[in-house]
Amino acid sequence: MMKNEAILILDFGGQYSQLIARRVRDCNVYCEIKSYKMSAEEIQKRGYKGIIFSGGPNSVYSNNAPKCNAELFNLNIPILGICYGAQLIAVTLGGKVDNSQVKEYGNTSVTYNGDSLLFQGIGTVGVTWMSHTDYISALPDGFIATATTENCPVAAMEHIEKKVFALQFHPEVEHSIAGNHILKNYLYQVCGCKGNWKMDSFVKESIESIKKQIGNKKVLCALSGGVDSSVAACIVHRAIGKNLTCIFVDHGLLRKNEGDDVERVFREQFDMNLIRVNAQERFLSKLKDVTDPETKRKIIGEEFIRVFEEEAKKIGHVDYLCQGTIYPDVVESGIGDSAVIKSHHNVGGLPKDVNFSGIIEPLRDLFKDEVRKVGTELGIPGILVWRQPFPGPGLAIRILGEITKEKLDILKDADAIFREEIINAGLERDINQYFAVLTGIKSVGVMGDFRTYDYTVALRAVSTTDFMTADWARIDYELLGKISSRIVNEVKHVNRIVYDITSKPPATIEFE
Ligand code: XMP
Repeated sequence: MMKNEAILILDFGGQYSQLIARRVRDCNVYCEIKSYKMSAEEIQKRGYKGIIFSGGPNSVYSNNAPKCNAELFNLNIPILGICYGAQLIAVTLGGKVDNSQVKEYGNTSVTYNGDSLLFQGIGTVGVTWMSHTDYISALPDGFIATATTENCPVAAMEHIEKKVFALQFHPEVEHSIAGNHILKNYLYQVCGCKGNWKMDSFVKESIESIKKQIGNKKVLCALSGGVDSSVAACIVHRAIGKNLTCIFVDHGLLRKNEGDDVERVFREQFDMNLIRVNAQERFLSKLKDVTDPETKRKIIGEEFIRVFEEEAKKIGHVDYLCQGTIYPDVVESGIGDSAVIKSHHNVGGLPKDVNFSGIIEPLRDLFKDEVRKVGTELGIPGILVWRQPFPGPGLAIRILGEITKEKLDILKDADAIFREEIINAGLERDINQYFAVLTGIKSVGVMGDFRTYDYTVALRAVSTTDFMTADWARIDYELLGKISSRIVNEVKHVNRIVYDITSKPPATIEFE
């Protein structure tokens, strides 16, 4: 039996299992995602308050489709099936699923049966998000349809005595307008959850489980000063203290004072075993005369690993590597049946010459805003927790063309003024990413009575939620004017400022 009330999400390989988990956590209910193969005996033993069947990419009738164990319906635990999960309930309990000629995809109008416990308080019409071709064409015995759409006679169904519910649509997706309310009804009204789980419980539970897993062994962490690696390092540090060593490779391509800020927080506030490697000269010499953006990225990525390996070797044997991987970085879901959405590596590759017996990824199940909540819970200062995204190759890809120490210093100063003014204007949480770029352009200007021939700085500021698409931020002209005059007055060798007014696509957020 678990200490807390918990919901089980059985993963049938859908893209949204983690999103369902996230929505359940948003309702302050603890949940676990497990493979659909988990046995009924184990489920009963663990004392879950409810079971959610996730969606999945298969058709229920295809040969390799994951099946559900019919015994689950005899455990007296309320069940909610979503999309594929809903169809699986129908087929397992004797209903029928058919292939429709019409694929329902995207926002879809729906009519709810207002008597259903799931749909209390949301009215009888709404918009849900659908993504299916198969549909439930015949109800299993004892079930009633509780929602319909134009093309879908069973957009939801339930067997109230058995406490089995099914939704063809995805309540976890933002576009399903009453989705959160429906999930809340399931958790609180149907399963009887109280909703007293919070992020501080996540922190406590993670620390306990890391303690158990690591014991007296040693862990190494590559700290970048970014939100994810900082939060991951702090959790592990709380669990095992000085048995964690963090290596912070300062490649000299960080923003003004950033290296010192990172060092101060982790050394002074958290009293961590921290090794800061000041490798600016080393990176600059590798980057000498390099102008091609992809070559810059490659050199920096490789050099980063080399420096890390060298330092790790000096420490001696280490058992585990801690990484700040978060859910959007994870390639596939736990059961390996889901479609690969994207491949993303957090640290640009693992060190090859250091052997670890395992990897610790305490934030693997969390989304960015949840990581920030955990960071705040751990007492990490706002400058790190609310840090805007910053690319691994750092300022190297914000200096167009060759990188020199002089150019780096100019860019750091110009960027610091831009950021300071955005913060002074209270816009730092509204604009999702903002920075200065040192363009390769030099142009003629006049300062005092003298001709100048100096650099052009571009300012880039975007609003975005996913960083895949972005719009340029409509910063007030007065503020832009103030930033421009401060930069040209305070930073030597800059005589012109331009503001980037392209969205992504067709531009990217970074210039290189
Ligand atoms: P782009 O320029 O592709 O950037 O529109 C999208 C987001 O990704 C960040 N970015 C990177 N992050 N390593 C990273 O960790 C990289 O090489 C890298 N390149 C771009 C960029 O800052 C923006 O937030």
